[in-house]
Amino acid sequence: MDQRSLPYRAARAVWRKFKWLRLQAQLLRDHLYDLRRFGAWSHGTDADKTQAQALHAIYKSYHGVEKGLSLSEPRPGFGVDKIAFLMGKLRDYRTKFDPNGVPAATSALQSYQAFNAGHAIKNPTLETFLDKAEDDRTGGTKPVTRDDILAITGKTGADFFWSRHSVRQYADTPVAMEMIHAAVDMARKTPSVCNRQGARVHVFADAQKALSWQPGNTGFGHLASRALIVTADLQAFSGTGERNQPFVDGGMFAMSLLYALHAQGLGACPLAWSMRADKDRDMRAALDIPDSEVVIMMISVGNLPDTLAVAKSHRMELEHYMVEHD
Ligand SMILES: Cc1cc2nc3c(=O)[nH]c(=O)nc-3n(C[C@H](O)[C@H](O)[C@H](O)COP(=O)(O)O)c2cc1C
Repeated sequence: MDQRSLPYRAARAVWRKFKWLRLQAQLLRDHLYDLRRFGAWSHGTDADKTQAQALHAIYKSYHGVEKGLSLSEPRPGFGVDKIAFLMGKLRDYRTKFDPNGVPAATSALQSYQAFNAGHAIKNPTLETFLDKAEDDRTGGTKPVTRDDILAITGKTGADFFWSRHSVRQYADTPVAMEMIHAAVDMARKTPSVCNRQGARVHVFADAQKALSWQPGNTGFGHLASRALIVTADLQAFSGTGERNQPFVDGGMFAMSLLYALHAQGLGACPLAWSMRADKDRDMRAALDIPDSEVVIMMISVGNLPDTLAVAKSHRMELEHYMVEHD
């Protein structure tokens, strides 16, 4: 058919419209899939159904106390309402889930109490609440010096960052699970919103079990020894404003994990999980990833061979990344 003819151009326009509508329908379906899960699992402010929701809400709440105490000039008696709210949350948690929960929150309250006592401010309800509570010193603040920090940071230069590559060749030996544990242990130090720690890692001793679901590891995934799936637990997040926060916190955790694997001398490659709802649902069912978690990415891991090629992955200039403002 003549490409300039009216019927041809009309047919093309209809086809383009159809493709656009189909994309909108897919987008809507995938968004509804995300929407349902965020609605079902994120925590509220007062009626948390699951233990994980309640625990994350308590972390959010008690961290506000630590933050207040870590300012250069904390305000004596700050946050009275928030302290009452936290005590209520802790009472509920102890009744519903764990009579000994949550020591770090109790410890933060003890620090708050001690700080206020130093300013002759009393909170009898809190005093009663803390009566007989053990102090395990896991909450509150701790002193650090500039020298302490510089002694550590002085050992790590730019080389550490520039020597990490996405590694797609692995030695024919299994990665010791202790090294994976050590890497995840380091990644725990990743910052998270209100210290809520929503990130999770599913570790697959049999890498193929997980990697067979991910299309981007063709040609090298079969060489990997272990596979990791980084997720974020929606139960750690709350409110529509945090609808994207799982991806921020989970993504930051994934980056720390990549650096931690690198620090262990392992080779690792981040692997995208940019999937439509149906594929995501199938993978979760097969690999036992809870409905409450969103998948951030997979990571293939292996021991480094003696020599290997890595993609240069050219970085654009500093100016591309950095926009300076007055
Ligand atoms: C979220 C994410 C998903 C990625 N997915 C894949 C993938 O599916 N397959 C792959 O070979 N590399 C994947 N990569 C690796 C990138 O290609 C690589 O990070 C980039 O080229 C920079 O190279 P470098 O990691 O060596 O610095 C992914 C990276 C990220 C951050």
